[in-house]
Amino acid sequence: MSDNEIGAVTEWMKDPTKMFDVSGQTAIVTGASGAFGRGIAITLGAQGANVLLASGNEDELKSVAKDVEGVGGKAAYIVRRPDSLEDAEAMREAALDNFGSIKMLAIGSGYNKAGFIHELEYEDWQDVMDANVRGAWFMAKAVGSYWIENDIKGKMLLMSSVRGRHGNISGYTGYCASKGATDAMTRVLATEWAKYGMTVNAIAPTVFRSNLTAWMYGDDELGQATKARSLSRIPLGRLGEVDDLIGMALYLLSPASDFCTGQVMYVDGGFTAG
Ligand SMILES: NC(=O)c1ccc[n+]([C@@H]2O[C@H](COP(=O)([O-])OP(=O)(O)OC[C@H]3O[C@@H](n4cnc5c(N)ncnc54)[C@H](OP(=O)(O)O)[C@@H]3O)[C@@H](O)[C@H]2O)c1
Repeated sequence: MSDNEIGAVTEWMKDPTKMFDVSGQTAIVTGASGAFGRGIAITLGAQGANVLLASGNEDELKSVAKDVEGVGGKAAYIVRRPDSLEDAEAMREAALDNFGSIKMLAIGSGYNKAGFIHELEYEDWQDVMDANVRGAWFMAKAVGSYWIENDIKGKMLLMSSVRGRHGNISGYTGYCASKGATDAMTRVLATEWAKYGMTVNAIAPTVFRSNLTAWMYGDDELGQATKARSLSRIPLGRLGEVDDLIGMALYLLSPASDFCTGQVMYVDGGFTAG
């Protein structure tokens, strides 16, 4: 951002699109086969960024890579989920091999297994915590170390949920706990890394259409009840679509958000306001 005397007309005021310029920069996007990961990857690609796509599904990654390149970005992919520090480091190295540096990290990977606690197996609870919390921690460690060593003011985006703040009728002891932990990790990393000029923020959506929520859009009784309950509490009167989220993602990954860190940004049609 430019130095700003009172009354000055700054470069960004004259052309606000410059605030969102990520062209030539490189992002790692985990969960790139999913609704949000894919949407964020294509959005960054359309802005001229290089994107290292990661997930466990090679066919989907190939297809998303084509989409990123189709809008003018550069894409490479690695078939890995952030299951271990080694996986996270492999993603970092793949990004560096392909593009030479990393500026942005978007955690689009995540998982839910709903189930009432008296019926849910401990292992199912742990899988949710591992996918949503441990995976983000591994990615932060692998990429954050690189940013610190190379004096790069990196930008990290985590994916939380309104469920980090609200409970749910549908057996979400794993999911809600994992998103509450995501919010906490966002704030901790933001404060820990502020001295390096790095920013860390999270987006907290309400229900959006994706594979993760497909069970709410079908015949499942609990799914229908969960969706109806969410919808009834959204003042804007509808559920989310990926387009509703990509503007916030670009803001949080671009210079426009350089003075914003440690925040959980609710993209929820007003759900948490009411
Ligand atoms: N959609 C919503 O309503 C909503 C609302 C609030 C928050 N969120 C959060 O947003 C993030 C993305 O959700 P989405 O809606 O885009 O879901 P999605 O379409 O189902 O995508 C999930 C992504 O995560 C990966 N993944 C699935 N299980 C995983 C596991 N156990 N470990 C690591 N990676 C795994 C999948 O990749 P592969 O299977 O190819 O590896 C996929 O790329 C999640 O953190 C989710 O909790 C979603």
